[in-house]
Amino acid sequence: MDSSKNLTILKLGGSVITDKRAEDGVVRVNEIQRIAKEISSFKGKLIIVHGAGSFGHPQAKRFALNEEFNVSGSIITHLSVKELCRTVVDVLNENGICAVGVHPMCCMVADNGRIKTMFLDQIYCMLERGIVPVLHGDVVMDSSLGTSVVSGDQIVPYIAKQMKASLLGIGSATEGVLDDKSSTIPIISSNNFEDVKKHIRGSENTDVTGGMLGKVKEMLDLSDSTNTTSHIFDAGKPGNIERFLKGEKIGTAITNEQ
Ligand SMILES: Nc1ncnc2c1ncn2[C@@H]1O[C@H](COP(=O)(O)OP(=O)(O)OP(=O)(O)O)[C@@H](O)[C@H]1O
Ligand SMILES: [Mg+2]
Repeated sequence: MDSSKNLTILKLGGSVITDKRAEDGVVRVNEIQRIAKEISSFKGKLIIVHGAGSFGHPQAKRFALNEEFNVSGSIITHLSVKELCRTVVDVLNENGICAVGVHPMCCMVADNGRIKTMFLDQIYCMLERGIVPVLHGDVVMDSSLGTSVVSGDQIVPYIAKQMKASLLGIGSATEGVLDDKSSTIPIISSNNFEDVKKHIRGSENTDVTGGMLGKVKEMLDLSDSTNTTSHIFDAGKPGNIERFLKGEKIGTAITNEQ
């Protein structure tokens, strides 16, 4: 199937669509509404992946899901992020975007925390018919560990590679990847990563999948293996998602182009 031609993948960070400081799920419906309006005029093939924010990270931490298998903790965390997905999908549909939630727990298997297999046929069919699949960071079955937490930041490059996406955007709550003076680093590649790494940390809030450093490493691995450039930008700033979808280069580019 070649329906992924000109495919765009957009990640909506949990730090934008939820109050990530909260200990249990607090959704920012107004932000999701604004984002939905910005997406609504986009005509191309689009996959949305959203983060978990306070609908997954605090729960995964509470049940120590990164340390040992916990069946009820895995289910509680999965149900929490599924609830967030429901809100995202509802708001997208209310704004004229035909969106369907695709929960990774139901179509993905990991091994030692890394995605091993994912069923993608339904996603190809959805794109072919103008439906926007909405995936999210989730707890998934893991052939070695029982379950593992798979971040949206890992899902984006996995799908991008499998489906040969052409435009990749990682919307989070900062202008881009910031240096020690809070200026946006325009380009990160394997040439300067070792140098800029010292400025990049996890998250100031609870984040069990590595925060900004985890994000940059995932996207850098993708650019090294596929030549795909991605953009980390502030999805909390009105207009930025629209600008990204129009092809404007905003935020930090993670690339292997010199
Ligand atoms: N150099 C840096 N530049 C920008 N943010 C940084 C940097 N170092 C650490 N951070 C932290 O990383 C956070 C972004 O990562 P985080 O995973 O929390 O966001 P998210 O992807 O929006 O959320 P989620 O994982 O729930 O989807 C920033 O809000 C900031 O606290
Ligand atoms: Mg994160």
